[in-house]
Amino acid sequence: MIRSMDKVVALCKRRGFIFQNSEIYGGQNGFWDYGPLGTELKRNVRDAWYHDMVQAHNELLTPAGAPSPFQMVGLESAIIMHPQVWKCSGHYDLFHDMMVDCHECKGRFRQDHLPSTPCPLKPSRTVGQHTSCRLTEPREFNLMFKTILGALGTEDDAAFLRPETAQGIFVNFRNVVDSTRVRLPFGICQVGKSFRNEITPRNFTFRSREFEQMEIEFFCRPDQSRDWYTYWRDRRYNWYLGLGISLDRLILRDHHADELAHYSVGTADIEYAFPFLDAGQYGELEGIAHRGDFDLRSHMEGKLAKNAAGELEVEKLPDGRPKYRGSGKDLSYFDDQTRERFVPHVIEPSAGADRGTLAFLCEAYHEDQQPDDKGELQERVLMKFHPRLAPVKAAVFPLIKKEGMPEQAMAIYGEMRAAGLSCQFDQQAAIGKRYRRQDEIGTPFCITVDGDTAQDKCVTLRDRDTLQQERIPVARIVDEVTMRLKS
Ligand code: GAP
Repeated sequence: MIRSMDKVVALCKRRGFIFQNSEIYGGQNGFWDYGPLGTELKRNVRDAWYHDMVQAHNELLTPAGAPSPFQMVGLESAIIMHPQVWKCSGHYDLFHDMMVDCHECKGRFRQDHLPSTPCPLKPSRTVGQHTSCRLTEPREFNLMFKTILGALGTEDDAAFLRPETAQGIFVNFRNVVDSTRVRLPFGICQVGKSFRNEITPRNFTFRSREFEQMEIEFFCRPDQSRDWYTYWRDRRYNWYLGLGISLDRLILRDHHADELAHYSVGTADIEYAFPFLDAGQYGELEGIAHRGDFDLRSHMEGKLAKNAAGELEVEKLPDGRPKYRGSGKDLSYFDDQTRERFVPHVIEPSAGADRGTLAFLCEAYHEDQQPDDKGELQERVLMKFHPRLAPVKAAVFPLIKKEGMPEQAMAIYGEMRAAGLSCQFDQQAAIGKRYRRQDEIGTPFCITVDGDTAQDKCVTLRDRDTLQQERIPVARIVDEVTMRLKS
């Protein structure tokens, strides 16, 4: 992996991974579009997450490190929810950043980002350090996007685009328990878009205004919540390592008490050494929060806040009425083994699909030198994606465009696609150039039909990372590639 974000961004545009949104109109700050390869890559990230967390989960076995077996189910809730959801969750009152404006350059900045934000008028200085900077007092800015429902368009019809997928899970807790056979402990998982009106979107897709989250709300008995918190911290950290992120660029960092969100009694972040950060700095990929019973109790009773003794209680107006009423619905759980009723505790591993995808792109980027068809060394860009994440799994080439080779290659290409393997067919340019095109998008295997194929019924299978080439029978090629992708 190299430490140049510019090269990763240039490759993303050149090869169709990620484009600036609305680029032909000058771009829309904080929004990004995924091109054909980026769409496949991000879909593979999402699919790997859903497969590993939900589909392939066996609720009859105890996974290594887990206190007991558990169930995992999926959910897909709407982006717009009842406004009361955001009042009881705390987002309406508390989900804000402090911002400052500069009268001189007319820029708007997040106060906590000032020490690392270059002044637009004098980029060698940070905002506030240049003698002409004239900053306003910091003020609160709520990050939720507001919209209006229906035709009347009054303030009473205001709603919000969700800033996290998590609340869709909490408000459906009762529905899931009542409509399925899940028993504690269990997790409800959701992948979907979230929206935050970030004051200063930056660092490519890292901080965007529209992004995708992959969230698990794991419900458990309060007396077991610490053990589950430890389990999920470790499990989620290892998930990134298993998909190729290197141990020396990934950390698991516990939050200090003053960093904890209003609901959290413990949080750890999984962080990655992104190339846009200084050496020794890490950016958050995922947070694993011990949320206690905050969310379910808030949606049941009304918005919770900490009292003078540091305990959570329903927030009250000066006249003693609750500030925001909860749903009044019973979101407690009855344990039919122990005959106890309680409000479950929640462990929340909350990952960003775009940040994960960006980390996998940065991690994959390699450069080396390889001889071309004339034996001269050429710069090569190589995306070393984990085979599960690679947007294209194999490419099929006829060595030359005659002697029946294109037809044989097309037949193999058809079989690969019919087997569900994302595959490309390429007969343009010299073979070395075609290999380099595939290396640059991270295709793990290239298959070449040559002059011997008609006789020996074999093709050459080339491995992206080892560059080894082997003869494999045509009849076995689909199975062979499928098997190697899994190993
Ligand atoms: N439900 C908890 C929650 O939303 P968060 O730490 O605010 O927690 C979880 O967000 C993850 O969502 C982050 O770790 C990050 O990967 C992703 N995320 C948050 N804000 C983002 C943004 N503006 N752009 C891209 N990804 C973002």
